[in-house]
Amino acid sequence: MIDTASSTSAEPTASATPIDSTAAQPKRVLVIAYSQTGQLRRVMDRMLAPLYADPNISVHVEQLRPLPDYPFPWPFLRFFDAFPESAHMVAPKLAPLSLSGQEAFDLVILPWQVWFLAPSLPVTAFLQHPLAPRLLGGKPVVAVVACRNMWMQAFDKLQTLLRGTGARLLDHVVLTDPGPTLATFVTTPVWLLSGRKKGFWGMPDAGLSPAQIAAARRFGLALCDALAGGQEQGSAPLLAGLGAVRADARLYVSEKAGTRSFFLWGKLLRAVGAPGAWQRKPLLVVYILFLLVLIVTIVPISLGLQVLLRPVFKARLSRIQARYEAPSGSGVERSHLYEE
Ligand SMILES: Cc1cc2nc3c(=O)[nH]c(=O)nc-3n(C[C@H](O)[C@H](O)[C@H](O)COP(=O)(O)O)c2cc1C
Repeated sequence: MIDTASSTSAEPTASATPIDSTAAQPKRVLVIAYSQTGQLRRVMDRMLAPLYADPNISVHVEQLRPLPDYPFPWPFLRFFDAFPESAHMVAPKLAPLSLSGQEAFDLVILPWQVWFLAPSLPVTAFLQHPLAPRLLGGKPVVAVVACRNMWMQAFDKLQTLLRGTGARLLDHVVLTDPGPTLATFVTTPVWLLSGRKKGFWGMPDAGLSPAQIAAARRFGLALCDALAGGQEQGSAPLLAGLGAVRADARLYVSEKAGTRSFFLWGKLLRAVGAPGAWQRKPLLVVYILFLLVLIVTIVPISLGLQVLLRPVFKARLSRIQARYEAPSGSGVERSHLYEE
């Protein structure tokens, strides 16, 4: 399990000390870890298991600890109070990292989640941390997102943050909730606000399915092979052909509208007070009502219009899909190699 230890390694002391890179040494993999409900942690447990089992790989897990930490389940207003800072990427402080920045990793795995159409604040805090350029600069990065299903705008922001550290993004794995979009607008908030994951009123369970989580192992197996062949030193994706990502371009319009709205209202709320300030609460309540109207109008209308106008939008949607399925792609031609 990767949540309990901030440092775990096949070679227990190797990851915490500066080391010369030589071919004989195990490949060193840095994993950044944060998960509130444990969903992303379970995905990473599956994905990292083959790396832990490989004597030629040592894994260091760096646990992110925001100060103060975010609650789960979230109190209702506290949840929405996180959107202005998420949208503006104003991150919290983190408890000191266990790393000094002197360590040399061969590969970085960056699991991340989406908060209000932006990278989650703990992950943003790490990418803005003064040590991030030292740890990630010039390093190959495999990003892995597990979220409801709106991640494209957040991925743009993540890429900007990664570019700021000098990292080389080789792969992006995207795992999204399998339920219908409109149902997930109900089941995900219920899960996050109450802890209840079980579906109700005929709606599916919130979050990823157990099968999706179990299948994340294929990415770990492929990474072991790639590291054995030194492929992380190149610029080609390591996880192509494994169905790493499927972008639903039809959600792009809703994401754009949502991002704009979070940004503008977030600016207003940030001008009124700091996170948690009572002055923000009345405005937050107004915004939540506005957001509900936005979700029950813009999302279905834009999805419906795109169905009606499919021939007109086809080329544009294909371009958006191709853009967000890069670099790893949606092809599955290598999946059979890692089926167990
Ligand atoms: C404050 C907050 C905002 C969220 N906003 C989004 C979102 O905009 N799009 C999305 O697909 N998922 C969103 N999610 C779901 C998360 O991306 C993620 O799936 C869920 O929080 C479980 O992650 P965990 O591994 O940290 O437990 C949000 C979650 C939280 C807590």
